[in-house]
Amino acid sequence: MNRHHASGPILGIDIGGSGVKGAPVDLGTGELAQERLRIDTPQPATPRAVGEVVAQIAEHFVDDIGQAPIGITIPAVCQNGVARSAANIDPSWVDTDVDALFTERLGRPVHVVNDADAAGVAEAGYGAAQGVGGLVVLTTLGTGIGSALLLDGKLVPNSELGHLELDGRNAETHAAQSAMEREDLSYPQWAKRLQRYYSYVEGLLWPELFIVGGGISKKADKFLPLLDLRTPIVPAKLRNFAGIVGAACLAAELGG
Ligand code: BGC
Repeated sequence: MNRHHASGPILGIDIGGSGVKGAPVDLGTGELAQERLRIDTPQPATPRAVGEVVAQIAEHFVDDIGQAPIGITIPAVCQNGVARSAANIDPSWVDTDVDALFTERLGRPVHVVNDADAAGVAEAGYGAAQGVGGLVVLTTLGTGIGSALLLDGKLVPNSELGHLELDGRNAETHAAQSAMEREDLSYPQWAKRLQRYYSYVEGLLWPELFIVGGGISKKADKFLPLLDLRTPIVPAKLRNFAGIVGAACLAAELGG
């Protein structure tokens, strides 16, 4: 793979269930080069409708990004640009060639990647996983639970640890941030579920480090101290920007 020797920023776009967020990223520092633009996710959030919003964001930053490729995250398993699951998005994404659809709509190369995987790449490059050897497990806690496995800083794509079955239930339904909101749990109540979840994952994978991302990682002091694990567990350093930054990093690897 050729590294794209872009001198300018690369646009990263993070597609979520409620908002589509994008910003040009300075890959020298891993920081956003411009203020992030957020547009509500259209409903129904079909690939085509979301593609229009992605195009709007690309248009907004066109003067900053030249003809460089664009990195885009989706909240689904993504194999070679094709979405393979749809736990929290419109079912019509399954088996859609998102890469082909967005390349055509945007008229330029794109790199499409799972959202948690993008966050993992960003944390490995600029954040909490930087320089950490061995296995690092990043989880994003949001509507669902996303996961990224990093082995010596290299991504092992499409792990889906949010869908482990735990006590007869899908882990993300029981322990994502959305479960706390839906069931009106206090932080200590929610932390009990997280304790159960992370102990289970550490017993299976014995990682060197857990990183917790997603919007709620801003409030990590309210729940991480309540967990008792063998594995160190820290909040993501790039917080909610990690998806955007990681997508931009991966897009930069496209031949440009
Ligand atoms: C999906 C994952 C995604 C995660 C976070 C899960 O429901 O299966 O692919 O990374 O939600 O959006």
